[in-house]
Amino acid sequence: MASFLSTALLALLLTTSAFASPTPRTCRTQPSDPAFPRPSQWAALNESVDGRLLNVVPTAKFCLERGGCSDVLWNSSVWRASVPGAMNSNNWEQDYAGNGSLCIFNSTTCGQGNVPLFAINATSPAHLQAGIRFATTHNLRLAIKASGHDFLGRSTARDSLLLWTQYFRNITFSDDAETVTVGSGVGLKDLYAATKARGRIIVGGTAWTVAAAGGYAQGGGHSAFSPVLGLAVDNAVEYNIVLANGDLIAANATSHPDLFWALRGGGAGSWGVLTSVTYRTHPTFPATLHQATFVAPSSLLAGRLLAAHAHHIPTLDVLRAGQYFYLRGAPGNGSSTLSLTTIAPHVTSGAVLAARMEPLLNAARAMGVAVQGELTLTALANDIVPNAEWAIEAIVGGLSTADAPRRVVPFQDDIAGHNVIMGSRLIPEKVYTNGGVDAFAGTFTRILDMGVPGIHGHLVAGGKVAENAHINSSVTPKWRTAKTHILISRSWPDTTAPALVEQLRYNFTHTAMPLLVGLTGEHDSGAYSSEADVREPNFQTTFYGPHYTILSAVKARYDPSDLFIVGAGVGSERWDESGMCRV
Ligand SMILES: Cc1cc2nc3c(=O)[nH]c(=O)nc-3n(C[C@H](O)[C@H](O)[C@H](O)COP(=O)(O)OP(=O)(O)OC[C@H]3O[C@@H](n4cnc5c(N)ncnc54)[C@H](O)[C@@H]3O)c2cc1C
Ligand SMILES: *[C@@H]1O[C@H](CO)[C@@H](O)[C@H](O)[C@H]1NC(C)=O
Ligand SMILES: *[C@@H]1O[C@H](CO)[C@@H](O)[C@H](O)[C@H]1NC(C)=O
Ligand SMILES: *[C@@H]1O[C@H](CO)[C@@H](O)[C@H](O)[C@H]1NC(C)=O
Ligand SMILES: *[C@@H]1O[C@H](CO)[C@@H](O)[C@H](O)[C@H]1NC(C)=O
Ligand SMILES: *[C@@H]1O[C@H](CO)[C@@H](O)[C@H](O)[C@H]1NC(C)=O
Ligand SMILES: *[C@@H]1O[C@H](CO)[C@@H](O)[C@H](O)[C@H]1NC(C)=O
Ligand SMILES: *[C@@H]1O[C@H](CO)[C@@H](O)[C@H](O)[C@H]1NC(C)=O
Ligand SMILES: *[C@@H]1O[C@H](CO)[C@@H](O)[C@H](O)[C@H]1NC(C)=O
Ligand SMILES: *[C@@H]1O[C@H](CO)[C@@H](O)[C@H](O)[C@H]1NC(C)=O
Ligand SMILES: *[C@@H]1O[C@H](CO)[C@@H](O)[C@H](O)[C@H]1NC(C)=O
Repeated sequence: MASFLSTALLALLLTTSAFASPTPRTCRTQPSDPAFPRPSQWAALNESVDGRLLNVVPTAKFCLERGGCSDVLWNSSVWRASVPGAMNSNNWEQDYAGNGSLCIFNSTTCGQGNVPLFAINATSPAHLQAGIRFATTHNLRLAIKASGHDFLGRSTARDSLLLWTQYFRNITFSDDAETVTVGSGVGLKDLYAATKARGRIIVGGTAWTVAAAGGYAQGGGHSAFSPVLGLAVDNAVEYNIVLANGDLIAANATSHPDLFWALRGGGAGSWGVLTSVTYRTHPTFPATLHQATFVAPSSLLAGRLLAAHAHHIPTLDVLRAGQYFYLRGAPGNGSSTLSLTTIAPHVTSGAVLAARMEPLLNAARAMGVAVQGELTLTALANDIVPNAEWAIEAIVGGLSTADAPRRVVPFQDDIAGHNVIMGSRLIPEKVYTNGGVDAFAGTFTRILDMGVPGIHGHLVAGGKVAENAHINSSVTPKWRTAKTHILISRSWPDTTAPALVEQLRYNFTHTAMPLLVGLTGEHDSGAYSSEADVREPNFQTTFYGPHYTILSAVKARYDPSDLFIVGAGVGSERWDESGMCRV
């Protein structure tokens, strides 16, 4: 009788769950839950990972425990890469909506914020497998971090166990050096040096410590040389990855091709833990960099300068040049500074590139914009790229652009430690040819007048990126028709009240971003998921375009229990903002 009843009940429950609410509200285990692992269980995990389990604290607390940090350490991404709880953008460590104290530079009281509780300092796939097994058994929130550069805060999560891959440092070339297998902690600087020694180069970004086989490898990966070499994912031939079920597999064209497709553009942190990525290399070549700084005395002229700049961009097509154009602006009659770095592959004469830039410099002068610090530099491509984006500082800190020339060589570090959010759009090539760029002047003036100071452009599409449209990968097709990737950013001082931070973020997403979106001239515009707004309202379409449905199916196949959830990542719509509870 009892057994009959329970069978009937079970049948009823199964029927109910199959037809009624399909996803019960379930949360990851939190420290306050009785089911949260006990110290003895953490100790057992520690033993199974060779004693490599760490307690994790926010950066400022890490400093506090060591008697303080200098500004130089605080702002160094090289140093932050060695601190398990450190994010490059300090705001991602904070829980502005929570009850604990913020943990900011020089704090003496610190909440844990959105920083993980424990980390495995992994150096072998077995360490990652042990972490995944433990998280599955105890229903824990997992986070994955390589360098902590993420602009969307996707490499940290509150109350989580962090799988930290910074010390996967192997760089292994094939015998002919046509490919290189890069561990998921290797920074771009080391990879440029290693490929240079073989007379080769890879598609890499301009940062020194971004992990070539971390988030960069899953978002798309752009470079000033993308117009000649394509995106990083166009050059990826194999991903080694530990899956949610604990298997270490190779995803390539013939092994797990569906996952290989998803990893090449489907977004960081959503598929498993990478141990390495194998990239095709290219013979290296010389290149020339041109840099100039423009000072516009008002937001009106800054807008006009950006329109003139946009009109000039197509004249670089013949060179397949890449370019970074970073404006640090001020509203109204405040002065704005544009740092412009142009990189031309295979050009060995500074004069040739300077002549190509001359019409823009003249147009700027004619409108009352001062041009300063023009310089050129010719060197091997491997040495040019990592030095190019000195101006990333402008994104994060608003450091003086007058420092530009002195920072071109040698670049030491990526500047970190600030509070910054950003949002972006891929601007279609057709906007540059159909007169759409005329709207840049008014729109960028309005964005500056709203108090959004950072407008940062990247000429990293067209050319080979467009020609690679035949490659079947999940990177949004918007990359193939784009000319530039433009982002706007907002930062704030540590002293800003949490409620104001929330207001500022809300305004950024709902007031400033729509203006940038308008410049695309598209209803279904696209953006680069690795340099974007984590609160992008329709992220599925904006980041992944028509691929989202297939990406979701691949996700269901490889990560059916949503172990790997990040903000604005595939499957994240099933979870709250912190990734702790299903919605
Ligand atoms: C200074 C600076 C310069 C940049 N320049 C460029 C550029 O030139 N071109 C460009 O395309 N992008 C650039 N970016 C953006 C960069 O590509 C992203 O920030 C990228 O996500 C960084 O990856 P990471 O692994 O180093 O960072 P992390 O913050 O460690 O991780 C980023 C994301 O990848 C996931 N992840 C990290 N490691 C792994 C792993 N082993 N397995 C699975 N998932 C993992 C994390 O969970 C997170 O979602 C730049 C960023 C900064 C801060
Ligand atoms: C893990 O074990 C090592 C070596 O025994 C120890 O130094 C470390 O403190 C332990 N980690 C934690 C989080 O307890
Ligand atoms: C480091 O960043 C802080 C802001 O967070 C800034 O005030 C300071 O000047 C920076 N220090 C250096 C050395 O760049
Ligand atoms: C903050 O604390 C109050 C009172 O203790 C509690 O009701 C609330 O849920 C807490 N909020 C968060 C975000 O933790
Ligand atoms: C941080 O603390 C150091 C040492 O106490 C002090 O010299 C410095 O001025 C402080 N900086 C800030 C921004 O509070
Ligand atoms: C992590 O492991 C690496 C490699 O063994 C080691 O050099 C580093 O000091 C460790 N970091 C921490 C914070 O324990
Ligand atoms: C790195 O290379 C060394 C030496 O070849 C090898 O023993 C080790 O297993 C490699 N590590 C990883 C994580 O591949
Ligand atoms: C793909 O990976 C499998 C398994 O490691 C390997 O046997 C095969 O050679 C690889 N194929 C390609 C095209 O790299
Ligand atoms: C591209 O690859 C995906 C994933 O393997 C597959 O579903 C799709 O059919 C392929 N498309 C084409 C046009 O080959
Ligand atoms: C900026 O300066 C111009 C010319 O002096 C003036 O007409 C205009 O009102 C000023 N605008 C603002 C916002 O101060
Ligand atoms: C957000 O926008 C509102 C409405 O325009 C404005 O009143 C408020 O000052 C803005 N807040 C911040 C922090 O920018």
